[in-house]
Amino acid sequence: AVLEMELLPLWLCLGFHFLAVEWRNRSSTAMAASQGGCKVVGGVADCRGQNLALVPSGLPSHSWTLILDANPLKTLWNHSLQAYPRLENLSLHNCHLDRIGRYAFQEQGYLHSLGLADNSLSENYKETAAALHTLPGLQKLDLSGNFLTEDMAALMLQNLSSLEAVSLARNTLMRLDESIFEGLQHLRDLDLQRNYIFEIEGGAFDGLIELRHLNLAYNNLPCIVDFRLTQLRFLNVSYNTLEWFLAAREEAAFELEMLDLSHNQLLFFPLLPQCSKLHTLLLRDNNMGFYRDLYNTSSPQEMVAQFLLVDGNVTNITTVNLWEEFASSDLSALRFLDMSQNQFQYLPDGFLKKIPLLSHLNLNQNCLMKLHIQEHEPPGALTELDLSHNQLEELRLAPGLTGCLKNLRLFNLSSNQLLGIPTGLFANASNITTIDISHNRISLCPQIAPLDWVGPSNCVDFRNMASLRSLSLEGCGLRALQDCPFQGTSLTHLDLSSNWGVLNGSITPLWDIAPTLQVLSLRNVGLSSGVAELDFSEFGNLRDLDLSGNSLTSFPRFRDSLVLQTLDLRRNLLTALPQRAMSEQLLRRLQTIYLSQNPYDCCQVEGWEALEHLKTVADLAMVTCNLSAKVIRVVELPGGIPQDCKWERVDTGLLYLVLILPSCLTLLVACTVMFLTFKKPLLQVIKSRCHWSSIY
Ligand SMILES: *[C@@H]1O[C@H](CO)[C@@H](O)[C@H](O)[C@H]1NC(C)=O
Ligand SMILES: *[C@@H]1O[C@H](CO)[C@@H](O)[C@H](O)[C@H]1NC(C)=O
Ligand SMILES: *[C@@H]1O[C@H](CO)[C@@H](O)[C@H](O)[C@H]1NC(C)=O
Ligand SMILES: *[C@@H]1O[C@H](CO)[C@@H](O)[C@H](O)[C@H]1NC(C)=O
Ligand SMILES: *[C@@H]1O[C@H](CO)[C@@H](O)[C@H](O)[C@H]1NC(C)=O
Ligand SMILES: *[C@@H]1O[C@H](CO)[C@@H](O)[C@H](O)[C@H]1NC(C)=O
Ligand SMILES: *[C@@H]1O[C@H](CO)[C@@H](O)[C@H](O)[C@H]1NC(C)=O
Ligand SMILES: *[C@@H]1O[C@H](CO)[C@@H](O)[C@H](O)[C@H]1NC(C)=O
Ligand SMILES: *[C@@H]1O[C@H](CO)[C@@H](O)[C@H](O)[C@H]1NC(C)=O
Ligand SMILES: *[C@@H]1O[C@H](CO)[C@@H](O)[C@H](O)[C@H]1NC(C)=O
Ligand SMILES: *[C@@H]1O[C@H](CO)[C@@H](O)[C@H](O)[C@H]1NC(C)=O
Ligand SMILES: *[C@@H]1O[C@H](CO)[C@@H](O)[C@H](O)[C@H]1NC(C)=O
Repeated sequence: AVLEMELLPLWLCLGFHFLAVEWRNRSSTAMAASQGGCKVVGGVADCRGQNLALVPSGLPSHSWTLILDANPLKTLWNHSLQAYPRLENLSLHNCHLDRIGRYAFQEQGYLHSLGLADNSLSENYKETAAALHTLPGLQKLDLSGNFLTEDMAALMLQNLSSLEAVSLARNTLMRLDESIFEGLQHLRDLDLQRNYIFEIEGGAFDGLIELRHLNLAYNNLPCIVDFRLTQLRFLNVSYNTLEWFLAAREEAAFELEMLDLSHNQLLFFPLLPQCSKLHTLLLRDNNMGFYRDLYNTSSPQEMVAQFLLVDGNVTNITTVNLWEEFASSDLSALRFLDMSQNQFQYLPDGFLKKIPLLSHLNLNQNCLMKLHIQEHEPPGALTELDLSHNQLEELRLAPGLTGCLKNLRLFNLSSNQLLGIPTGLFANASNITTIDISHNRISLCPQIAPLDWVGPSNCVDFRNMASLRSLSLEGCGLRALQDCPFQGTSLTHLDLSSNWGVLNGSITPLWDIAPTLQVLSLRNVGLSSGVAELDFSEFGNLRDLDLSGNSLTSFPRFRDSLVLQTLDLRRNLLTALPQRAMSEQLLRRLQTIYLSQNPYDCCQVEGWEALEHLKTVADLAMVTCNLSAKVIRVVELPGGIPQDCKWERVDTGLLYLVLILPSCLTLLVACTVMFLTFKKPLLQVIKSRCHWSSIY
C-alpha cells in the first residue's frame, strides 16, 4: 500500500505531462505548463529569453503585448496564439523561426505591430506570406535580418495595404522594381538599410504616396538620378557608392527636409530640388569639390554632363551644367551643412548667400586655402563654424562687415596655417564662447589693434572678448606672453600646451583669468620650479590642471580651499612625493592625480602608503623611484625603506661591505661554534691527559 501511495503522484505526473503534450498539439488554450518566468504587468507579458519551445498558454487572455524574443521556438504553429485574441503587439525577435503556420495569426484580428527580426523566414516564405495575409490591420512589420530576397519580400508584403512602417534591413535585396511595394499606399516609413541594392527601377516607390522616411544606407547604389519623391521628408543614402545625386529638374515642391549622402563617392555638389524644405544636408566623406575657378571656362557649353535616363524602351536625356553646381538648388531653409572630409578648395562667390539660415557649417578636413567673407553674404545666423584641418593661410573679411559673426558660438580653426585673424572678425562676435586655433603659427598681438582694422593680420587679439570661455592655443609656437593677453575675458578653459617657453618661468600672465579658470593645460611649456615656486593659490575655481612634460623639481603650491579634482604631473623632475607639499585636505579632495615618469628618490617616498590609501593616484602601478642606480616600482618597495636609505647615502662600496658584513659575521660565528664543538673532546683529552699533572 505504501508503495502504491508513492507511485500515485508519479502516475499523476506522467498523465499530466502526457495531457499537456496532447493539448499542445491541438493548440489548446488549456496548456498547463508554467508561465516559464514570464513577467506579466498589466496587459504586457514579457517572456524574453526563457528558453521556451512553444508559445506559453497560461498567460492572461486579455494580454495586448506579448514579447517572446530570444526563445528557440523554431516553428510558430497554427493557432498557437489562439489564447490571446486581443494581441496588438507581438514581438518574436531572434526565435530561430523558419516556419510560421498559415493559420498562426488567424485569431489575431487586433494585431498591428509584429516584430520578426533575426529569424530565418526565407525558408518557408510562402507559408509565412500566407500567414501575414491574414492580418488585415497590420501597421508595423519588422522583417529585418531574415535572408529575404526581393521576390520573397514582395510576396510577403503583397496586399498588406494597412502597413505604415516596414523594415527589411539586413536582408539580401538587390534590385527593386515596381512590384515590390505595390499597393502599400499608407506606408510612411521604409527601412532598407544593409542590403545589396544596386538598382532601383523608375517606379519602384511610385505607389508609396505617404512615404516620409526612406533609409537606403549601406547598399551598393552607384547613383541617384531623376530623384522625384516629392513627398519624402527624410532620405538616408549614406554608405553607398554614389557618384551622382540628381533631383528631377522640375518645379514641383519637394517636402525633403533631411538628406544624408555621407560616405559616398560624390564628385560634385549634389543637384538638389529647385524647391524644397531641406534643413539638414550631410555630405561628409565624399570626393566633392567646386571646380569653376579651377578651369578657365571660356566656353561654358563644354562643361555640361548629359545623363541618359533609360526606362524600359524610353530614353530621356537630361543636361546638367556642372559648373552651376549649387546654383539651381534650393538651400534657403538649410540650417545644418556638413561638408567635412571632401576636396573643397574654395567656396564659390554667392554660396553662403544662398544659405541665409545656415547655423552649423562643417568644413573640417578639406583643402581650403583662403576664406573670403564677401559683403553680400554675411552668414549672420551661423553659430558653429568648423574649418579645422585645412590649409588656410588667410581669412578675409569684406570691409565694413564687422557684425557678420554676431551669433557665432564656436569657431574651430585648428590645424591650419594661419598667422593671424583679422581684428574685425571677432569684434562683434558677442556670443562667441569657444575658439580653437590650436596648431597654427599665430602670435598674440602685443597691443589692442584699432577696431576698424580689417586688413590681413599677423596676430590675434583676445582681449576684451567678454563672452569667450574656452580657448585652445595648443602648439601655436607662441613666444613668451607679454603683460595681460587675456585681459577682459572670463576664460574657464585654456590650453597653452606645447608652446615651449610661453610662460617664461612664471604664471603671472594668467593672473587676469585666475579667478575664472576651471581647466588649464600647461603641458610641454618648459616650466621649471626655478626661483619662485609655482603658486596656484589664486586659481580659486581650478578643477583640472595639466602640468605634465615640464621640468618641475618641486610641487606647485595650492591653497587648501582649492576645488582641484584632477592634477597631472607626469614627465617632470620631481624627486619627492607630494605628501609634504600638499595638505592632507587637498589630497583627499583630489579625484585623480598622475605622478608617473618622475625621477623620485626612493628615500623620499615615505608616506607612500598614505597616498596609496587615498586611491587617487591613477597611474599607481607605473610610479617608480631610484635607489642607487636601480629603478624600482614604488608599489613593490618593502615597508621599511628609510633604513636602507641611511646606507644608501654612504658610499656604495661601503654599503656592499656593510651588506656583506652580517653574512661574514654569521659565518664566523658558525665556524667558531663548530670549531668549539669539535674542540671540546680534544680539550677533554688534553685535560684528562694532564689530569695527573694537575694533581701535582
Ligand atoms: C499532432 O497530432 C497529429 C495527429 O493528430 C500528428 O500527426 C502530429 O505528428 C502531432 N504533432 C506533434 C508535434 O506531436
Ligand atoms: C511593441 O513592443 C515592442 C517591444 O516592447 C515595443 O518596442 C514597441 O514600441 C511596441 N509597439 C507598439 C505599437 O506598442
Ligand atoms: C497549418 O495548417 C495548414 C492547413 O491545415 C497545414 O497545411 C500546415 O502544415 C500547418 N502549419 C503548421 C506550421 O502547422
Ligand atoms: C491581393 O489582392 C488582389 C486583388 O484584390 C487579389 O487578386 C490577390 O489574390 C491578392 N493576393 C494575395 C496574396 O492575397
Ligand atoms: C543614416 O543611416 C546610417 C546607418 O544606419 C546612420 O549611421 C546615420 O546616422 C543615418 N543618418 C541620419 C541623419 O540619421
Ligand atoms: C582665364 O582666362 C582669362 C582670359 O582668357 C584670364 O585673364 C584669366 O587669368 C584666366 N584664369 C585662369 C584661372 O586661368
Ligand atoms: C515600348 O515598349 C512597349 C511595351 O513594352 C511597346 O508597347 C511600345 O511600342 C514600345 N515603344 C517603342 C518606341 O519601341
Ligand atoms: C521622359 O520625358 C518625358 C517628357 O518629358 C516624360 O513624360 C517621361 O516621364 C520621361 N521619362 C523618364 C524615364 O524620365
Ligand atoms: C560692432 O561693434 C562696434 C563697437 O563695439 C559697434 O559700434 C557696432 O555697432 C557693432 N556692429 C554691429 C553690427 O553690431
Ligand atoms: C546671443 O545669444 C543669445 C542667447 O543665447 C541670443 O538671445 C542672442 O540672439 C544671440 N545673439 C546676439 C547677437 O547676441
Ligand atoms: C576642433 O577640431 C579638431 C579637429 O577636427 C578637434 O580635434 C577639436 O576637438 C575641435 N575643437 C573643438 C573645440 O571642438
Ligand atoms: C623672461 O624672463 C626673464 C627674467 O625673468 C627676462 O629677463 C626676460 O626678458 C623674459 N623674456 C621674455 C621674452 O619676456
